[in-house]
Amino acid sequence: MRKKVIAGNWKMNKLPNEAMEFIAELTPLVKDTENEVVICVPYTDLFYSLMHAQGTNIKIGAQNMHYEEKGAFTGEVSGEMLKSIGVEYVIIGHSERRAYYGETDETVNKKLKKALALELKPIVCVGESLEEREAGKAKEIVTTQTKLALEGLNNNEVEKTIIAYEPIWAIGTGKTATKEDANETIKWIREEIEKIYGKEVADSVIIQYGGSVKSGNAKELFEMSDIDGGLVGGASLDSTEFAKIVNYNV
Ligand code: PGA
Repeated sequence: MRKKVIAGNWKMNKLPNEAMEFIAELTPLVKDTENEVVICVPYTDLFYSLMHAQGTNIKIGAQNMHYEEKGAFTGEVSGEMLKSIGVEYVIIGHSERRAYYGETDETVNKKLKKALALELKPIVCVGESLEEREAGKAKEIVTTQTKLALEGLNNNEVEKTIIAYEPIWAIGTGKTATKEDANETIKWIREEIEKIYGKEVADSVIIQYGGSVKSGNAKELFEMSDIDGGLVGGASLDSTEFAKIVNYNV
């Protein structure tokens, strides 16, 4: 049985005091869940969040990292830096980073390898645009992104990689993929992994859905056969709402 991983992606939101307040509110609400609870916070909130999440079941993640250890990369943060303060998860290749900051399949692959080498838990995002879906290219896009992200990894590393399928047209728009479409697309991703790494690996990889997940649709999405939880943007900013999503199955 694959575990459900429910991860919040705060994007560029919340100051440290707000992060600490959020964790204080969320802690009692999710303490009994069997699901993995993660919040991916801005760099400036990481340390405060880690301190406040100590002794709880809330895991802390970053939203990006560089693939080099150190050097002349002004404004960047390395995986080693994340690891050094105890960060556990890291989002790699979010569509906003691909669209606005020049993230490519190649940099995603480099970052993923580095994260795994450091034993950070990567959440790698893939997903098609509306134009691509309407042109019938969604399968080709997501399977190619998946293959290129995972290139050069061994079976064990692939099993440790979480994939988030996030159709770009569903992010922050209030438009959610239907549960059937989301499940079908995630099955395509799983089939692609099976082709390269075999059935055992494909069956064990956690693949989330992301894009306008909220408490009102979390249950129907997460109960689908191949959807192993979600990457949640807007609805993860409110502790009560996010707790409802985490507790979709109670
Ligand atoms: P959303 O964002 O839930 O606000 O649509 C999801 C994401 O970008 O990870």
